[in-house]
Amino acid sequence: MHGFENVLIVGSGGREHALGWKISQNEHVQKVIYANGNGGTSENISISPNDIEGLAEYAKNNNCFTVVGPEVPLSMGIVDLFNSFGLPIFGPTKSASRLESSKEYSKHFMKKYSIPTSDFQVFSDYDKALDFIEHIDYLPVIKADGLAAGKGVFVSSSKSEAVDSIDLLLNKRIFGESCNKIIIEKRVIGEELSMMAICDGNSFTLLDSCRDYKRVFDNDGGPNTGGMGSYSPLPEITDIEREYIAEKIFQPALKGMSNEGSPFKGFLYAGLMIEKHTGKPFVLEFNSRMGDPECQPLMMRMQSDLFKYIEAAENQALDSMKPIEWSKKFSVCVIMTSKGYPDKYETGYTIKGINKEYDPDLMIFHSGTKLNQNNELVTAGGRVLSVTSIGNTMKDAINKAYEQVYKISWGEDQQQFRKDIGAKAPGN
Ligand code: GLY
Repeated sequence: MHGFENVLIVGSGGREHALGWKISQNEHVQKVIYANGNGGTSENISISPNDIEGLAEYAKNNNCFTVVGPEVPLSMGIVDLFNSFGLPIFGPTKSASRLESSKEYSKHFMKKYSIPTSDFQVFSDYDKALDFIEHIDYLPVIKADGLAAGKGVFVSSSKSEAVDSIDLLLNKRIFGESCNKIIIEKRVIGEELSMMAICDGNSFTLLDSCRDYKRVFDNDGGPNTGGMGSYSPLPEITDIEREYIAEKIFQPALKGMSNEGSPFKGFLYAGLMIEKHTGKPFVLEFNSRMGDPECQPLMMRMQSDLFKYIEAAENQALDSMKPIEWSKKFSVCVIMTSKGYPDKYETGYTIKGINKEYDPDLMIFHSGTKLNQNNELVTAGGRVLSVTSIGNTMKDAINKAYEQVYKISWGEDQQQFRKDIGAKAPGN
């Protein structure tokens, strides 16, 4: 450690809970503090993740090294602000985080640096977008240019669905300024995979493979969400494929960002599609942070000390580190949400049935929870709990997670979760 004692985690979701849990295992970290945390995190401060000046003041007064979870404070420039005060922080600058905060920037960047991604066009005019849709011979994916909490991507299964999505974005402007522009791109058919890396601006170290489930209902039905579950690893992703992904995606991304004058330091997330016919990965999106809920199973399986890698990245010394060690076991995360999520839902229901005894094979990371005046745990958001297990086989991990999920309740009519997390994974 370099003169700081505490780690400040910015954010309040399952990803931040999992990051903080893992970082707290570093022998030098005295306290992990969450801004603003949730009902499952013990040291919370009531400073919003978007109050970046307030966070800087707190970090300075409390001797903190700061790790940023969500994309919004990154896109607001939290890292630039902390850097200007000489405060240690791990995450990309505002300009580097454009890889996530502007899909237009990201797609042009990928094309410029020959990173495999599908063809696309950018529109701000409704009529021009419709005209384009009329003249293409494929079903498109429509995306809001800006941030939309994982809900700004519309995969069309017909032209009329595509027209509806364009209307929602460019006319109804359901994500406000984030839909000033839209991206219309060719859909890639295949299997999705999330790969993340810890980056120090020049070097990177890849994390293990992971898959998340974005649609709200079983068998990938319903609208996109922030994520309904995940598992790690994907045994079908061989070392050769990992090397290919490192060489064709992460290396040019890091070099390209340096070249653009925005070196990328932080967690870089590549949402990939392994194309069915060619077996080659295409980048669907870059995110400038850890995935949620990909982070939860990755933290369960990581055997190395995460914080040492974060510190090395912050000090631009990642290339001096050994590869990260991973458990050979499987981890599964099932997200329990409020009924109605990702649309309207109610909160304030008392959560019962959480196993309080320590079990090394099961962690319940919290997101939308809080303690009420009676010190009872109640629901407080859309995604509520990440029930995350580890097991010798996928089947063991799935059974372990669902065994706990079925014991937790805040009312049959008030909760929902997918029942098929990991079900189609090879080896299950
Ligand atoms: N799980 C998708 C994301 O974090 O963006």
